[in-house]
Amino acid sequence: MASRFYQWLDSRLNLKPVERTLLDEPIPGGASWIYVFGSVTLFLFVMQAITGMFLAVYYAPTPDHAYDSIRFIETEVLFGAFVRGLHHWGASAMVVAIGLHMLQTFLYGAYKPPREAMWMVGVVLFLVVMTFAFTGYLLPWDQTAYWATQVGVNMVGTVPVIGDFMMRVMRGGEVLGALTLSRFFAIHVLFLPSVIVTFIVLHLFILRRVGPAGPWTDERSALTKETFYPRQVYMDAVVIGAVFALVATAAWMLPFPLTDKADPSDTSFVPVPEWYFLFYYELLKYVHGPLEPLATWVLPMVVILIMLFWPFIDRNPARNPIKRPVALGAGVLFLAVVLSLLGLSIKNLYAVPRADPAVARGQALYAGFGCAGCHRIHGAGGAVAPDLSFVGDTRPEREWHLKHFKDPQSVSPGSFMPKFPLTDQQLQDLTSYVLSLKRTP
Ligand code: HEC
Repeated sequence: MASRFYQWLDSRLNLKPVERTLLDEPIPGGASWIYVFGSVTLFLFVMQAITGMFLAVYYAPTPDHAYDSIRFIETEVLFGAFVRGLHHWGASAMVVAIGLHMLQTFLYGAYKPPREAMWMVGVVLFLVVMTFAFTGYLLPWDQTAYWATQVGVNMVGTVPVIGDFMMRVMRGGEVLGALTLSRFFAIHVLFLPSVIVTFIVLHLFILRRVGPAGPWTDERSALTKETFYPRQVYMDAVVIGAVFALVATAAWMLPFPLTDKADPSDTSFVPVPEWYFLFYYELLKYVHGPLEPLATWVLPMVVILIMLFWPFIDRNPARNPIKRPVALGAGVLFLAVVLSLLGLSIKNLYAVPRADPAVARGQALYAGFGCAGCHRIHGAGGAVAPDLSFVGDTRPEREWHLKHFKDPQSVSPGSFMPKFPLTDQQLQDLTSYVLSLKRTP
């Protein structure tokens, strides 16, 4: 049946040449699991496009409604949280996939003549993916989105001469606001997709013209002359299936919560970028003052240019990594620096003292019972009773506070602090809170 239908279609559409270009592409040295990452990246792009289209059905790109529309997707829309999860984790997976794809290409020296153009188009694709990530991050319009984008935009502002102008173009004005959001939205869903599709087509076109590079030794390349179909297609499909299962599980199991709605006046908020920008965030912490532009634009510019023109910088004709100590050394050094910065950054993030839930409950009780009517903490509250800013240092004994809260007059004769009706749990929580008020937490 299928073949009769195929013959019918073929006699009308002349499919044989199409089949030849799509499936009969010879792979020097035969199919391999190491070649799957390009297809995986392409699959993830398609998934991002589809989930993105569905998110766009409900998303409203204005400061008044963006946050609520995401909340609506998360809580009301059928499969809304799942689709948003796919889009969120899919973005991470895409960064990993494109990274592995570039690593494989680099290791195999597959960027060497005659494939320089394919490498350069690939680097552009990588940059487009990172721009997708950056513009997409702002869209939920929560605190993290707003302040992380602020950091990114300010970095562009440090570029001499044109920095200020570029910053205004990115924001659509003097401040990060409504115009910025619609601008980022348009770039994310209209401009970038057109750009990426164009460059993907170009990338695949070049691949079809020059063919895949295959193993790094000619002897092994000559060993088999297998075609793309069936074994490579099968390997690609298996890994794509596994990647999808992984992303879907993450979307299902790991909630990706929104922080509070963006508040442009709350400058105290410390944003954390996505993990794939973390290494860079860490680097920025170490450079200050006159050296700052070095990290905010000189270094990224230099790295991007080196990546882009790498096939012309590395003139060594050998493809075997053993015979390319300089290239391999540079690659390993680059990876080591990026991964150490990432590790350091994650370590620092986790080193931030976690809020003790008892302390948090105690703080709520402090507000609820109106303790601030008499007491002052860091300048806020009344002045008729002792300042409690550092009471954890001056009165460190738990027992004293427990007794005091039960009956202030029993330990402080003549005190006019009222006796509050506290349960045992509340007594403990309130004590945990006042003990946490220290000079060095
Ligand atoms: C009507 C005013 C008043 C209110 C309301 C009040 N306090 Fe007090 N508080 C005092 C006074 C006066 C003292 C000093 C005498 C004493 O130790 O009791 C004091 C002392 C303290 C101390 C000991 C401070 C020190 O340095 O010795 C702590 C801790 C404290 N209060 C916590 C609280 C908490 C928690 C609340 C709310 C549940 C609260 N207070 C509500 C008046 C008040």
